[in-house]
Amino acid sequence: MNLTSIPAFQDNYIWTLSDANRRCLIIDPGEATPVLAILNKNQWQPEAILLTHHHQDHVGGVTRLVEEYPQLVVYGPQETQDKGATHIVSEGDVIPLLGREFTVIATPGHTLGHISYFSKPYLFCGDTMFSGGCGRLFEGTAEQMYQSFHKINQLPEDTLICCAHEYTLSNMKFSHAILPQDHEITRYYQEISELRAKNGISLPSTLAKERKINLFLRTQNDDLKRILGFNFTPKHPWDVFARLRQEKDTF
Ligand SMILES: [Fe+2]
Ligand SMILES: [Fe+2]
Repeated sequence: MNLTSIPAFQDNYIWTLSDANRRCLIIDPGEATPVLAILNKNQWQPEAILLTHHHQDHVGGVTRLVEEYPQLVVYGPQETQDKGATHIVSEGDVIPLLGREFTVIATPGHTLGHISYFSKPYLFCGDTMFSGGCGRLFEGTAEQMYQSFHKINQLPEDTLICCAHEYTLSNMKFSHAILPQDHEITRYYQEISELRAKNGISLPSTLAKERKINLFLRTQNDDLKRILGFNFTPKHPWDVFARLRQEKDTF
């Protein structure tokens, strides 16, 4: 399998997964032009589009791609029905594609219907988990996003986190400001700063990496709790997560 990230807009990535027979999948095509260029260049035949949620920067290219490839099947959650999805999927559905199986995981929080697709070792998680951070809570609650992170955290540690935005540097800048004494975060902030200065791509990340550097996966950390003002046991397990998300919103 060949995993490719196609840069789009300011900081989006449209992911493709292709096989030896030149068949491919397209995940969250926010625009069609850069995708069509890659398909032509590699002579790839797209088999399906996978949509994670209804935002325009993830679905904007669907119509054009389906015009070019009328046989394309478009999978997505209910909220993408009017954005071109032809096959509505939800938690636990298993989709056979490219001779593999893709499991649908409901990951609400950023939007209410947001889903992710897992086919070992690939996780296409849209705007749920970013490297070093998490998506904004546009529709859902911190509790929902916390539970979505918990689900993702049950996957194998070598899972490739294929998220939809290059937000790693700003996430690490935030994480470093929150927890400056953490060596892993300091080191990764430095590494990503250098990488981005050379316009390098920081993705995909791995779950093992995120467990070390993503504060939203580390809300049990005592230093983090104390810094966020929890000198007591939080009432709910997602309270620290919620406070951290608030801090990021105003950072
Ligand atoms: Fe989004
Ligand atoms: Fe997005």
